[in-house]
Amino acid sequence: MANLKPERSVTMSDIQTMTLRTNSAGMKQATDILRKGGLLAFPTETVYGLGADATQDLAVARIYAAKGRPTFNPLIAHFPDADSAKSHVHWSEEADILTNTFWPGAITLVLEKRQDSTLSALLSTGLSSVAIRVPDHSIASNLLHQFSSPIAAPSANPSGAISPTKPEHVLSSLAGKIEGVIDAGACRLGLESTIIDLTVAPTLLRPGGIPVEIIEDCLGKKLQNTQAKDGIKAPGQLSSHYAPCAKLRLNATSALDEEVLIGFGDMECDLNLSQDADLTEAAAHLFAHLHFLDKKGVACIAVAPVPQHGLGQAINDRLIRAAAPRD
Ligand code: TXA
Ligand code: MG
Repeated sequence: MANLKPERSVTMSDIQTMTLRTNSAGMKQATDILRKGGLLAFPTETVYGLGADATQDLAVARIYAAKGRPTFNPLIAHFPDADSAKSHVHWSEEADILTNTFWPGAITLVLEKRQDSTLSALLSTGLSSVAIRVPDHSIASNLLHQFSSPIAAPSANPSGAISPTKPEHVLSSLAGKIEGVIDAGACRLGLESTIIDLTVAPTLLRPGGIPVEIIEDCLGKKLQNTQAKDGIKAPGQLSSHYAPCAKLRLNATSALDEEVLIGFGDMECDLNLSQDADLTEAAAHLFAHLHFLDKKGVACIAVAPVPQHGLGQAINDRLIRAAAPRD
């Protein structure tokens, strides 16, 4: 069992958080932050990640502290390409099939970690497996190539809160706790990656940016679904998660008194996920709308039904967790 305690206590108040540009000077500042063991929020095609050098224990420990994340919830290691990931995990034929098709892209694979991997044990919270991903975003890709070491990155939000799809979402909750954020505007997909466990028969741990049906077509078989079977396998799948400050009511067709209605498709509402009932557009708007209403101080949000196919599965997963009773 790994020692999951930080090597020394880390105080993170009063850090000057720099907003970095995407030019070469900004990228140099970004890699300098990572090299010194600092925390850097950076864009991916899914959501903004809260990055640290995945090989430095103390840097990885700072991610847990900045997010207030339970230390039983492991992080994803990000790589510039599949070849650089292969030296850390036991590769498989199914990993080949999925990564040849979807990487770079919004799919994360859980594989057994190699004994000689230099990834911090804190990253995978002492598990024998590790989650790996190659993001499909030019700035993330430049950063990973220039840093030339894997980057540990959960979504850049306090634990249990809504994931950030814009740099201002990151700053509103993590300013003063991290050294920098790269400002590259809004994330294209707006929902986290799909997570597949390949340490067993291919199993869905979290629906996400690549729809389950497409992954099943590619593998030529159905995915197992741990969520349905025995609850929490990806610890991030805790029932209350992605929660805005407001109370959420799902499957609403109209707003009750004092509610703000988030619609889907052609309907009367205050904000629409997608007027054209386009699930890709809805995914890109979901977290941004929740952040917006939180900032406005809205207390009760009603959300219209979203179909449960394609990206709708991931959207509904996030909505159900956002609406779940909180501790
Ligand atoms: O799109 C994404 O995946 C974003 C961007 C930044 O890459 N990252 C992200 O990270 O969503 P995070 O930490 O918010 O979610 C990672 C999930 C958690 O639910 C965690 O439990 C799961 O991955 N996970 C990580 N390592 C795992 C492992 N070895 N076994 C099972 N689940 C694991
Ligand atoms: Mg997250």
